[in-house]
Amino acid sequence: MLTRAEENALILLAARARSNAYAPYSGFAVGAVVVAEDERTFFGCNVENASLGLTLCAERAALTSAVASGARKIRALVVVTDTVPPPMPCGACLQWLAEFGGQDLQVVSANLSGNVRRTALGALLREPFRR
Ligand code: THU
Repeated sequence: MLTRAEENALILLAARARSNAYAPYSGFAVGAVVVAEDERTFFGCNVENASLGLTLCAERAALTSAVASGARKIRALVVVTDTVPPPMPCGACLQWLAEFGGQDLQVVSANLSGNVRRTALGALLREPFRR
């Protein structure tokens, strides 16, 4: 489990990643940090495109960075937006998280007002697609 101190530090890092979000079409900036089993952290922000369907979510951007650095097992995700209440990751991102984490993967969603929601991947995606 993340301690509250670890969680707070990760929220700050995700907020920093959020400040790099490229979201000229929606205006909705998202930052994410994933924590690997070996404690390394990887960052992502949403990256939109004029061809709107090509948009990449912050969570998948962070996971892509982790995988590119050799991480294969993720134990926590922290995502930051400026929404009340803080939203949980979209379905596509949940399926991506399930590829690299178990049902116990911690999911923390925070906003800039200090609201924090905490849950586990298994509560958000009960039965991921597997093959
Ligand atoms: N977005 C994310 O980055 N993560 C999610 O889990 C859902 C949505 C982004 C995509 C798009 O750039 C913006 O939020 C508005 O949908």
